[in-house]
Amino acid sequence: MAASAQPTLRAPRAEDRDAVRRIVSTGGFFSAEEVDIALEVFDEALLPNSCYAYLVAELHGQVVGLVSWGGPIEQTESCFDLYWIAVDDTCRGHGIGALLIAAAEKGAASAGATQLIAETSGRRLYAPTHAFYQRRGYLRAAELADFYARGDAKVFFVKRLKGKAQHLPPASVEGCVQPSAARD
Ligand SMILES: CC(C)(COP(=O)(O)OP(=O)(O)OC[C@H]1O[C@@H](n2cnc3c(N)ncnc32)[C@H](O)[C@@H]1OP(=O)(O)O)[C@@H](O)C(=O)NCCC(=O)NCCS
Repeated sequence: MAASAQPTLRAPRAEDRDAVRRIVSTGGFFSAEEVDIALEVFDEALLPNSCYAYLVAELHGQVVGLVSWGGPIEQTESCFDLYWIAVDDTCRGHGIGALLIAAAEKGAASAGATQLIAETSGRRLYAPTHAFYQRRGYLRAAELADFYARGDAKVFFVKRLKGKAQHLPPASVEGCVQPSAARD
């Protein structure tokens, strides 16, 4: 990817599904089960009243990244989840992830989020992902050892946002599609 190329962010469309599958399938970051969950989230994001806010990044007519968030998390006043963020492995390191996460933060804050929480794996493979979150101002807030499997912790990265808590109903409001247990 040319360093100067600028992707555009837009709402997802049904025809983006194969690109989403391709993006989350490369690099060995996500298991087959997680790829299925990513596609389930994508499908649900297309539905009316979905709990998933979703954006894709398009570059030269190709979808090269995605981000999904939502909230408030049940029983919290204004904590939102960052469900998925991924960039095509041929396009990483060119600022697309930064654009996507900034858009998610803006969208979440405008919906009242005061914190955005990203849960990820503690495996060595994810060290660049941890560096990415930390560069974007996320604090490594907690870790549950051996959560996904022995030696595979769940790590929580949290960023404070300037949203104004709106006392929104939790994500279980009628007609709202419930998120699965996605690892973003
Ligand atoms: C994590 C991911 C979304 C980041 O997207 P990206 O387009 O590669 O990231 P960017 O190029 O926008 O980088 C943004 C910042 O993070 C930093 N960063 C990115 N990758 C980094 C790395 N490997 N090491 C250190 N810093 C890194 C960049 O230096 C940049 O900081 P800056 O803005 O201060 O210069 C992408 O690498 C990815 O899809 N990874 C695999 C899937 C994944 O881990 N998803 C996350 C949820 S589990």
